[in-house]
Amino acid sequence: MAIRNIVKLGDDTLRKTCKPVKIIDKRLHALLDDMAQTMYEAGGVGLAAPQVGVLKRVVVIDVGKGLLELINPEIVSSSGSQTGEEGCLSCGDVRKSVTRPMHVEVRALDRNGKGITIKAEELLARCCCHEIDHLDGILFLDRANPDEERS
Ligand code: NI
Repeated sequence: MAIRNIVKLGDDTLRKTCKPVKIIDKRLHALLDDMAQTMYEAGGVGLAAPQVGVLKRVVVIDVGKGLLELINPEIVSSSGSQTGEEGCLSCGDVRKSVTRPMHVEVRALDRNGKGITIKAEELLARCCCHEIDHLDGILFLDRANPDEERS
C-alpha cells in the first residue's frame, strides 16, 4: 500500500468525467488500498479516484462505521434534505454549507465485483453524494449555498 498525492483545486483532473471500471484486477485492488490509506492519512471521511489522479469511477468512504469501497457507484434514489458544512481533501481548509439529501440508496460493485446496495442517511448520505459528484467533475463548491450576509 502507498499514500498517493492528493490532487488540489485548480487541477483539471478534478473537472473530468470518470470512466466506469470494466475490469476488477490487482491494479484496481491496489488503487482501492492506496485510496483508503491516503484518506485515513489525510484525516478525511471519503476520497474519489480523480483526487489521486485516476479517472475511474471508484470511491472509498469511512464515516466511522467501517470502510466502504464503491466501484461504479450510482445513486438510485434519494429523499429528504440536510444542510451542513462540507469540506474536501482537494480544497484545503475551505468549508461551505451544502444542502444534500438526507437519505440515499447507492448501488455499486464491491472489490469482488459483487453488486451491493447501500442505504445511507445523514453524514454517510452526504458523503456518498459528495464522492459520487467527484466522478462527474463536480465539487462541493459548485453546490454550496450562498454565504450568509453579515452586517
Ligand atoms: Ni471531495
